[in-house]
Amino acid sequence: MRLSLFTICFVVGDASFSRASEIAWEEYYRQLEGRSPRPLFVDALPFLPVQQTEEQTLVAVDLGCGDGTETLALLARGWTVLAVDAAPEAIARLRASVPSGDTARLTTFVAPFHELELPNADFVYAGLSLPFCEPDEFDDVWRRIATAVRPRGVFAGHFFGPHDSWAGKAGMSFQTRDDVEALFRDFDAHLLYEQDEDGAAVSGPKHWHVFHVIASKRASK
Ligand SMILES: C[S@@+](CC[C@H](N)C(=O)[O-])C[C@H]1O[C@@H](n2cnc3c(N)ncnc32)[C@H](O)[C@@H]1O
Repeated sequence: MRLSLFTICFVVGDASFSRASEIAWEEYYRQLEGRSPRPLFVDALPFLPVQQTEEQTLVAVDLGCGDGTETLALLARGWTVLAVDAAPEAIARLRASVPSGDTARLTTFVAPFHELELPNADFVYAGLSLPFCEPDEFDDVWRRIATAVRPRGVFAGHFFGPHDSWAGKAGMSFQTRDDVEALFRDFDAHLLYEQDEDGAAVSGPKHWHVFHVIASKRASK
């Protein structure tokens, strides 16, 4: 498969944040205005279920949707989307950009991950968002995600590893490779790429330790 996922453009207003809740997300969205869908999202598209009948509705969840670029791309492909973000500014930006013909297929929630009841979904996308889950809530949040993905449905998302410059920041979750592999015990991985390298953020040099995952849930026996 084409691997086009290696560039992560990550900007936070203040690199010296000590806990996730201090991040100025509106500044992040502003810096990335007009961005393209994330490479990981684009790479997941060929693995997504396709509509089998006129009546079938394909349902996606965009967790930590931010400005909603990926939600808009799914709506444009005819999907029904639940877009969730804890930042009200994110949902306001998304709502302001949705074409009127797509609004009936979009539901939005301003909520933290741990408060969500997720619908059964053909695709759950979590682009650079799950690392901002509180560590003591991560297992429960992941259990809900893994349950929500329908058999043959797809999960695509990023996890941060322990070598990342931000490891240890309060309010953030980090996984080892073994941890990530354990999360996907009921899935078949199409991609599990471990990025462990120095790189840039607009706020300055940073070490990126990121797992990029695309996986399909196994059909139940
Ligand atoms: C790095 S941004 C990624 C946004 C978008 N998915 C993208 O790829 O640009 C992380 C997003 O997760 C949201 N977020 C952070 N912690 C969250 C939480 N506990 N519950 C829900 N959303 C959260 C932030 O508000 C932010 O929009």
